[in-house]
Amino acid sequence: MLLRKSCHCGRWVDLKQLVPEFDAFLEANPLPVPKIRPPGDPTGAELLGARLVGRWKSGAPVDLTPLRDDPKLARSQDFRFDQKNQERCPFAAHIRKTNPRSDLPPNATEPFRILRRGIAFGPEVTKEEKAAKKSSNDPKLERGLLFVCYQSNLGNGFHFIQQTWANNKNFPPTNASDPNVPEPGIDPIIGVGTPREMVGASPDPLKANEKLDFMAKWVIPRGGEYFFSPSIPALKNTFAAPGRPGRHEL
Ligand code: HEM
Repeated sequence: MLLRKSCHCGRWVDLKQLVPEFDAFLEANPLPVPKIRPPGDPTGAELLGARLVGRWKSGAPVDLTPLRDDPKLARSQDFRFDQKNQERCPFAAHIRKTNPRSDLPPNATEPFRILRRGIAFGPEVTKEEKAAKKSSNDPKLERGLLFVCYQSNLGNGFHFIQQTWANNKNFPPTNASDPNVPEPGIDPIIGVGTPREMVGASPDPLKANEKLDFMAKWVIPRGGEYFFSPSIPALKNTFAAPGRPGRHEL
C-alpha cells in the first residue's frame, strides 16, 4: 500500500454525529418524486439523505442511480458530475464538495485527494432516541466518526478540502445552464458556517432554484490532531537504523 512506501501526514478528528436529529430532518423534508415510490422509501426521506451525501445508504452514487438505491453500484467510482446541472447529484452533496471530479478541469483534483480510514464509534440509535427524535445525553450512547485521513501535504489535503471546498458556499463552480440556480451552499454534512450560511441550493431536482435551510448541525467536531506517519522504509532505515541512538533491538 501507498503508505508503506512513503511518509505521510495524518489527521484525525473526533466527529460526534446527531443521528436521530438528522433522521428527523429527513423525515420533515422528504423529497417525494411524483409517480415514483421507490421501494423502502415511501416518503422520499431516504432520497433527501442520499442527495445530501451523494450516495445512497448502500453506497450507490446518486449520480448513477438518482431515484432509487441500487446496491450493485455500492462501490462504484465510475461517474462524473455534469457541470451544468444538479439534477442527478446536487452541487453541494458531500461527495461532490469533497471530490468534485469533473466539476474541475482534468487532474485538477489530484493534489487534494486524501486516503480515508475512519472508524465509526457508538451504538445504533435506540428506540427512545428515535421516538424523541433527539440524541440521548447519556455519554454511553454517543456516536460518530473517528475521522482519520492521510495525505502527502496537510495544506492540500484535509485542511484544503474542509476550508476551501466544504465551507465555501460558492464551491463547486457551477456552470449551471439555468442562471437562476443558486450557489451550492456549504457541505450539509461537514460544512462549518454562520447560521446565515446554513442554506444551500435545494437538493430537490424539481426545485433546483429554491434553497434548502438546514439550520441544524448534525456533525460536531470535538477535537483532533495532526500527526506524522513515517513509511515502513523510513522506520527501518532511518528511525530504527542500526547504530542510531535510542534504537531498540527487536
Ligand atoms: C461525520 C462526518 C462525515 C460523514 C458522516 C461522512 C460521510 C461520507 C460518506 C457516506 C461518504 C461516501 C462513502 C465513502 O466514500 O466512504 C463520504 C465520502 C467522502 N468524504 Fe466524508 N464524511 C464525514 C466527514 C468527512 C470529512 C471531515 C472529510 C474531509 C474534510 C470527508 C471527505 C470525504 C471524501 C474525500 C469522500 C470521498 C468522495 C469521493 O471520492 O467521491 N468526509 N463521506
